[in-house]
Amino acid sequence: MNIPFYNAAREYAVYKDEFDAAIATVISSGAFILGRQVDEFEEDVMTYTSAKYAVGVASGSDALVVASDILEFRNDAEVITPVFTFFASASCIARLGGKPVFCDVDEDTFCMDMQDAENRITKHTKGILPVHLFLQMADMNHCMELAEKYRLLVLEDAAEGFGMKCLYQGVYKHAGTIGDFGIFSFFPTKTLGGYGDGGMIVTNDKDLYLKAKSYRVHGSTIPHHHDYIGYNSRLDTLQAAILQVKLSNIDKVIEKRSRHAAQYREQLKDIAGVKIPLVKDGKKEVNYAFCIQVEKRDALEVFLKEKGIGTSVYYPVPMHLQKCFAYLRYKRGDFPIAEHLCETVLALPMFPELTEDEVSYVCESIKEFYIR
Ligand SMILES: Cc1ncc(COP(=O)(O)O)c(C=O)c1O
Repeated sequence: MNIPFYNAAREYAVYKDEFDAAIATVISSGAFILGRQVDEFEEDVMTYTSAKYAVGVASGSDALVVASDILEFRNDAEVITPVFTFFASASCIARLGGKPVFCDVDEDTFCMDMQDAENRITKHTKGILPVHLFLQMADMNHCMELAEKYRLLVLEDAAEGFGMKCLYQGVYKHAGTIGDFGIFSFFPTKTLGGYGDGGMIVTNDKDLYLKAKSYRVHGSTIPHHHDYIGYNSRLDTLQAAILQVKLSNIDKVIEKRSRHAAQYREQLKDIAGVKIPLVKDGKKEVNYAFCIQVEKRDALEVFLKEKGIGTSVYYPVPMHLQKCFAYLRYKRGDFPIAEHLCETVLALPMFPELTEDEVSYVCESIKEFYIR
């Protein structure tokens, strides 16, 4: 068998007519920059997530930078973020001169350890940037308690979190809609992924929304009149049209992903050397990535590759050991859980069109590796 880690072509084959029609509509209209599909898709995301406002931008990374700029994460302002995440969750703080302050993560869920975060709060702390990682949201109840207690701004990195929810003050809330700002990535592998880069900023605050909308077009509301030094970061109209098709099928996609995850859980549960991720109570999971913790990870990865199975390591190097953050003067050993995860995590193939036989083959191959 040949099982890719991720494959977009299978989905295209299923919905080809819808995608082709959406793309042709944009091209024939000639309205490529902030065309009507961007507005419509923003409305669709607001409806799906219950966010009051949404602003489409060029990528999840840009969404983080724009939101960090508006929240004034600069001039050495400290912002706490997990050390085990994708680079953009930390670079957005450092980009404008803020200081990323890393905290460790929970061993079972891989999400930010809020107790460790609290221990790192100082009088210079301005914000907290929780990341909703792989399949569940960070503990937003605890996060918002810290925000209130220490008067911190909250930027939720929900790049991976589309569709995830958590019980917050007795109600299920969508990822990205609890803090001051939330962001999504539409990178192709994401649960709601486009055919290229794309991202979105969401908020319930009108002033923040108006700023974000202006920041994405060079800080202007009237062409050639600039209230802020903004960016050129707009969600591409073709991507918005494609994403509208994708969003209309999102519940089916989430359901298919959870079927694969259930099968992985069932077939991997008795293998010594393999640890399966936990989902905490009060969380509605979405299986964006299915990451197991394994012994002899690198050898297993090679073995699976020889068997035709694509995997990925999310993430091999924690943020505090990245060369560009050496100036922050962290050292190996500072974040033992994250460091251990970086040596043991392995993401298995996860996309809606995987077949039951393919998931079985992956599980059987992992079994074979540990029995040998
Ligand atoms: C946690 C996290 N934050 C931020 C990003 C950045 O998103 P993008 O790739 O759309 O720039 C990603 C996606 O790769 C991510 O996984």
